[in-house]
Amino acid sequence: MKEKGGEYIWFDGKFVKWEDAKVPVYTHAMHYGTAVFEGIRGYGAGGNIFVFRLKEHMERLHRSAGVYSFSLKHTVKELADATVELLQKNKMKESVYIRPLTFVGMHGIDLNVTTNSPTHTIIIAFPFAKYFKEGGISACVSSWRRINDQTTPPLAKAAGNYLNSILATQESRRNGYDESIMLDIAGNVSEASGENLFLVRNKKIYTPFFADSALEGITRDTAMTIARSMGYTVTERPIPRAELYMADEIFLTGTAAEIIPVTSVDGHAVGTGKEGPVSKSVRQAYEKVVTGGVKEHMDWLTPVW
Ligand SMILES: Cc1ncc(COP(=O)(O)O)c(C=O)c1O
Repeated sequence: MKEKGGEYIWFDGKFVKWEDAKVPVYTHAMHYGTAVFEGIRGYGAGGNIFVFRLKEHMERLHRSAGVYSFSLKHTVKELADATVELLQKNKMKESVYIRPLTFVGMHGIDLNVTTNSPTHTIIIAFPFAKYFKEGGISACVSSWRRINDQTTPPLAKAAGNYLNSILATQESRRNGYDESIMLDIAGNVSEASGENLFLVRNKKIYTPFFADSALEGITRDTAMTIARSMGYTVTERPIPRAELYMADEIFLTGTAAEIIPVTSVDGHAVGTGKEGPVSKSVRQAYEKVVTGGVKEHMDWLTPVW
């Protein structure tokens, strides 16, 4: 993180001052990317903060750790409680981004990481507003392919996976685009560098399967649930690249990005070149849900205060 976030960091069950939360340079994760993490948002509304789908994020952290046999010594409930306590300890009242991270510590240069290898878990939180500019973003199809299940599984939210996202992001920014869309190893659309992708044709919504190297996004699941409850059909299926040029609408979903329309791909306008009606209605419903405006989805929110 570029800047100091909250005054305290939760570190292996204790609150540690930001400046004291340090690790040795021998830390295995620094050398081999042996860490799994989460990105969670807490939305400031009405003097409170609502942490969005906290339990589901901590469950995914456990699943990611399990793929690599990293021992995670804290239960989902302990991690969720620690997150709430951290925001309280830091006296946070505005919208925040929360980053839990479990990493392998002092394990030398041994690549045989097992459940007995030393691991640590931290949770940090910092104020956070919008990730992308509002209104819509331009995207390109990256020349980098998305990592896949035959190499480093994209379903596990592992630190090392993000080198792939970084290459794609660097390429897109160098070429003047806001974001990159990656194809899977078979050439079908996978996801963006840090978001899942949805495409709209004739008011029907489509998104790639997990088997197309997409992360099991929590915002993806949220958008699908909301869209279905609004009467849209949402279908998971392979999406060929050219369909990006034929779509009426495209939108991305992610904790940081939230729901954001893609208004051009490789210079081709998507639909009218502006946010389309389906994306808009799902985005607006999402914004209402995350700030506590929808009674039936209050169980997705954990109030801090
Ligand atoms: C590669 C990738 N895909 C998709 C997502 C969206 O996942 P979520 O909605 O759970 O934040 C993210 C963000 O975490 C991501 O990094």
